[in-house]
Amino acid sequence: VRNLYLVRHGETYYNVEGRIGGDSDLTLRGQAQAKELAAYFAGTEVPYIFTSTRKRSAQTAAPMREARPEATVMALPEFDEIDAGECESLRYDDIRRRFPDAFAARQRDKFHYVYPGGEGYVTLRERVERGVRRALFLAGGAPGVMIIGHQAINRMILSHFLYRRTEDVPYIFIPQTQFYHIVATQRKKLFELVRFM
Ligand code: F6P
Repeated sequence: VRNLYLVRHGETYYNVEGRIGGDSDLTLRGQAQAKELAAYFAGTEVPYIFTSTRKRSAQTAAPMREARPEATVMALPEFDEIDAGECESLRYDDIRRRFPDAFAARQRDKFHYVYPGGEGYVTLRERVERGVRRALFLAGGAPGVMIIGHQAINRMILSHFLYRRTEDVPYIFIPQTQFYHIVATQRKKLFELVRFM
């Protein structure tokens, strides 16, 4: 694989409401972002597109899939967003009120914090790395691979390719209208944040 395009799903209803996790649909704006993404990549070779098993990731891939019926599009559960356990579907404000200790603990050490009944960045690493290995194996020598992931997932994927101090990983910028283009050669890895709309 020469080019890895790391994309975050488009805007969802949960994003607008400030809720975390869940499995909500793209908003109209999110659908427009997905269309712009496909238009941006119209002339680019991307024979493999990996998504998570969540609706927002599949819906972001839909226009890409339509534009290139020959591409392999595959959902990997390894790329599902961090499981916030008992905090799934809550707003950060709700978490602060209902679970003040958990909220404070996460702010103190976001990387090592594990949600009650869920995951943390620290436990995510293993499954995300498994997903990256699986995706790259399936894609073989393909010139371009796209992963349409989530905020925490994409942070972990970026940190897999690029050196980042662990404590910085949960704060890496993962926008919805820009993607990370990672070029990995044997000698070095380059990355660029590219705006597509
Ligand atoms: O808010 C969107 C989201 O993808 C949530 O589903 C997830 O819990 C969160 O981002 C991860 O970001 P952070 O670790 O900064 O809370």
